[in-house]
Amino acid sequence: MIDGEKMLELIKSRQSDRKYSNKPIEGDKLKRIIEAGRMSPSACNAQPWRLIVVTEHEIVQKIAEASSSKVIGINTFVAQAPVLIIIVREKANLTSKLGATIKEKDFSLMDIGIVAENICLQAQAEGIGSCMVGWFDERSVRRLLGIPRLKRVELIITLGYSLSEKREKKRKSLSDTVSFNKY
Ligand SMILES: Cc1cc2nc3c(=O)[nH]c(=O)nc-3n(C[C@H](O)[C@H](O)[C@H](O)COP(=O)(O)O)c2cc1C
Repeated sequence: MIDGEKMLELIKSRQSDRKYSNKPIEGDKLKRIIEAGRMSPSACNAQPWRLIVVTEHEIVQKIAEASSSKVIGINTFVAQAPVLIIIVREKANLTSKLGATIKEKDFSLMDIGIVAENICLQAQAEGIGSCMVGWFDERSVRRLLGIPRLKRVELIITLGYSLSEKREKKRKSLSDTVSFNKY
């Protein structure tokens, strides 16, 4: 079992990597990254997701077109990633949906956030860089991957051997974001 200090080191060392080499990701590493997503917890264990792993260069290029804009300079790095994981939101089970309605909380979106972070942390542990991408043309991605019209495509995760420099983490201070025993 990984010790506490090592775990925190792993969490802190993950960053959004936006530059990748064209070295392919080894199959066993990719399998473990996918497994880390699949093992994620979810409200009422509903597992309301489908992970579409895109490994074909041509499809990556088309999805990159649907996620980037050279004009505003956003997400152009997606085209460099050898692998993309597309997270589609699926129907939750009845208990999760009921709980979400009663408590007015979007449990499935929380579940998907956890899947995404598990994938990125496992990638980091495998020496693979990642970035979550939430800005993309959902309709085009749906069309490219044959995703049914009524399903939401929530996130794209880029994966690849990173060429990014390590950056200092920019985070709000402890006192601005954490308190003990009261708000
Ligand atoms: C839900 C979500 C959506 C994001 N969408 C994008 C995106 O479309 N493009 C991008 O370059 N980064 C995106 N990011 C990455 C964030 O900008 C990044 O996590 C944040 O600035 C903190 O930096 P770090 O990940 O390097 O620690 C997204 C992150 C999350 C969690």
